[in-house]
Amino acid sequence: MCGDVPRVCPTAAERRARPRGRKAKDTIGAARESLARMIGAPARDVLFTSGGTESNNLVIHSVVKHFHENQTSKRDAVECHSHVEGAKPHFITSTVEHDSIRLPLEQLVKEQVAAVTFVPVSKVSGRAEADDILAAVRTTTSLVTIMLANNETGVIMPIPEISHRIKALNQRRAAAGLPPVLVHTDAAQALGKRRVDVEDLGVDFLTIVGHKFYGPRIGALYVRGLGELTPLYPMLFGGGQERNFRPGTENTPMIAGLGKAAELVAQNCEAYAAHMRDVRDYLEERLEAEFDKRIHLNSQFPGAERLPNTCNFSIWGPQLQGHVVLAQCRTLLASVGAACHSDQGDQPSPVLLSCGIPFDVARNAIRLSVGRSTSRAEVDLAVQDLKQAVAQLEGQAS
Ligand SMILES: Cc1ncc(COP(=O)(O)O)c(C=O)c1O
Repeated sequence: MCGDVPRVCPTAAERRARPRGRKAKDTIGAARESLARMIGAPARDVLFTSGGTESNNLVIHSVVKHFHENQTSKRDAVECHSHVEGAKPHFITSTVEHDSIRLPLEQLVKEQVAAVTFVPVSKVSGRAEADDILAAVRTTTSLVTIMLANNETGVIMPIPEISHRIKALNQRRAAAGLPPVLVHTDAAQALGKRRVDVEDLGVDFLTIVGHKFYGPRIGALYVRGLGELTPLYPMLFGGGQERNFRPGTENTPMIAGLGKAAELVAQNCEAYAAHMRDVRDYLEERLEAEFDKRIHLNSQFPGAERLPNTCNFSIWGPQLQGHVVLAQCRTLLASVGAACHSDQGDQPSPVLLSCGIPFDVARNAIRLSVGRSTSRAEVDLAVQDLKQAVAQLEGQAS
């Protein structure tokens, strides 16, 4: 008998619940291992989040917090306020980042909490070039955040080179008593389409988004040496889950699904990529064959690698704005740019404009992505649909 100390002796219901609780814990642990394997990281460096937006915001928030904590401790140590008071962390990012990077940074600037340099991407390569990133570094620079692959063009950014050069710079900064510059990459678009390895990339933080690689709509964040090598300051406070870095009852079924999706990517990424590349290249060939010189392929930049699934193109013609052509399609459903800008109507994508695509071409852009099961026959249907839409719009339909 337990008498008056029920908390010490579990009830029968609690005893029955325990193995299930353990099972949930094991499921979460296995999913974390799978995610870690997919990106070549230790499992302890992976945190589950609600998605890419949260992961990106968490990195930015954490870097701001860390900067101020550092400033406070320095100030306390030297009792000399003047040179640090009012200092703000400086961020470096590119002009083609997802809104979940751009908008929080713009907000911090508005609130006068941080300074940000938006480095333009090269109009030749579509990439944020390492020289330009390095040239923007200041003594207060705390984070470089550059996406691994662009969501509209598919262009791969030179993250290994950026990290390598920032590491070399950090050694010189350490000698001068300056804190290191951390490197974050938003790998939302790259995962599942090319191999992603945090050691090759050399990053301190990496954002993972499940629904971009056939997983559920949650995400994760990789943090190198979480809490030890790389500081992480939580945005939320609560029940202690995820070692207090991201509290809140875990969404076990979604986490299990994310783990499975990661397992499939780790096992089959090369095969997925080869299939997508084959079908995407076929799509581009068919577009060129049907529309000849009227087609402009907006995601082909000399010297830049790109994702195997993305095809961003414009069909030249005064009435052929991307959204107008798509509205005329009978079966094809697609976007003209990032889904989060779908309310911008006929405005050309700022990302394409940043990459040097002329205004009239960018206004006609359509973004098609192929997937793991897209077939050449489906590509033929899509191209036929586009052909009839263009004919309708140009008044040539029979
Ligand atoms: C590059 C990139 N980063 C972040 C996100 C945001 O992810 P989520 O919608 O899961 O918050 C997206 C989503 O489209 C994305 O494309």
